[in-house]
Formats: sequence, C-alpha cells, structure tokens
Amino acid sequence: MLLELKDVAVHYGGVKALDGVSLGLDSGEIVALMGPNGAGKSTVLKAIFGLAPLDSGRVFWRQEPIDVLPHQVVSLGIAFVPQGRRVFTQLTIEENLEMGCLYLRDKAEKRRRMDEVMELFPILHEKRKDSARAMSGGEQQMLAVGRGLMAKPTALLLDEPTLGLAPKIVTEMFEKIAEINATRDTAIFVVEHNIRSVLDIAARVYVLDKGRIVHDGTPASIRETDVLTQVFLGRME
Ligand SMILES: Nc1ncnc2c1ncn2[C@@H]1O[C@H](COP(=O)(O)OP(=O)(O)O)[C@@H](O)[C@H]1O
Ligand SMILES: [Mg+2]
Repeated sequence: MLLELKDVAVHYGGVKALDGVSLGLDSGEIVALMGPNGAGKSTVLKAIFGLAPLDSGRVFWRQEPIDVLPHQVVSLGIAFVPQGRRVFTQLTIEENLEMGCLYLRDKAEKRRRMDEVMELFPILHEKRKDSARAMSGGEQQMLAVGRGLMAKPTALLLDEPTLGLAPKIVTEMFEKIAEINATRDTAIFVVEHNIRSVLDIAARVYVLDKGRIVHDGTPASIRETDVLTQVFLGRME
C-alpha cells in the first residue's frame, strides 16, 4: 500500500470520532470513503494530515510509519483538499494556485505546473487574473483541487469535492477526478456522498459508520449488498 491507516482512534473531548479504523490506498488507484454525516470521514483525512489528534494507531506511507505533521505529510507527496472549497478570496486565481507549492523555488517548474493545472481546468486559465471571490462555487472547488495539484502529489485526498454543486458541475468534477487519476498517475482518496457517481470511478470503497469501517470492497460488492441503505437509514447496529 502507498498510504495506510492501521487501527486509528481519534476522539474530540468526549466524542469518539474514529474507533480503530484501518484502511489503505494503493498507488494509482481511486478509493472512495462513504458514510452518513458525522461518521468520521473528514476525521480520517484530518488524521492523515495531523489535523486530528491520534489516540492510537499509526499512519504508514510506503510501509513505513510516519509522523503526522502537516509539512512532513506534504513533503511525502500527499495533498489534501478539505471540505468547503476553501480558497483565498482576497487573492487572484493565479496567486491561489501559487499557494499550492509555496516552497518550490524553481520558477520554471512552478510555471509548468500551473500550465498543467490550467489545461486541466480551462476556466482557471480564462479567469487567472480575477479575484477568487468573484468565482462561482463550482469554479472555487476546481481552484481548490487545482491548488492541491500544484504540489504534484502522489496521493490526493479530497473531502466532499462536489458538495453543494449543481448537477452539471458535479458530473464535470467526477470527470476531472478520473482524468487526474488516469493522466497524472495520482492515487486519489475521495470522501463522497454522490454514491452512484463515485462507484463509477472508484476501484475500491470503504463505508464508515459511527467511527468504524462497516464495509470494505469493490463497487460491485456495494451494489450487491444493502450496506448503504442500512448505514444511511441508521439500521446498522
Ligand atoms: N473539532 C471537533 N470538535 C468536536 N467534535 C468534532 C470535531 N470535528 C468533528 N467532531 C465530531 O466527530 C464526529 C465525526 O465528524 P466528521 O469526521 O466531521 O464526520 P463526517 O465528515 O463523516 O461528517 C462527529 O460526531 C462530529 O460532530
Ligand atoms: Mg465531513
């Protein structure tokens, strides 16, 4: 496995958010993480980035245990696009993208990466001098993903990249995620609530409920069982 969590537990005060979660992402694959609100999905991504405190368990990168400190995780080649399309609204699109590789000194390389991102998302090229504040929600989400790609990650972690977007934009976002995976050989771990669309692009799926993995399998295994109905209707005990 490229990235692995083994038996990770996290609590916030009295709330147990993750209760012994083990999961993995292999090189070049798309893996989806699904589950109802409050299941702990965002906490899984935050735990990898050292943004949620680990009570127990460890995170592994290429079989080696790692210290989950944000800068260290970034330097390994992991990029995280958090929930809620956080962009710097006071900056232009171009400046926002530059924030994705702040420590890269090589200007030519920075330019190359920006050209690649703008080729993937032409709207970012069209509006590159505009303030991010003036963008639509869908455009801001593309900018957030584009900023993650500026780090040239080996593994890209996406938290609800289609939340609150219009159906047409949702479809486009899924196409882009598949394209990033296929053309840039990037492993993608995506938290998603659009079940049907994410099952179309994922190689494997984990279902999380109340801080525990309750299903782990292929999209076909999800379609064949009623695990999602059970989890989403709260009938899983
Ligand atoms: N910073 C925090 N402080 C306290 N509780 C939190 C915090 N973040 C998340 N939680 C709680 O942890 C649980 C898991 O949250 P989260 O990982 O955001 O779930 P999901 O992303 O699946 O909706 C929920 O019960 C949530 O209320
Ligand atoms: Mg969440």
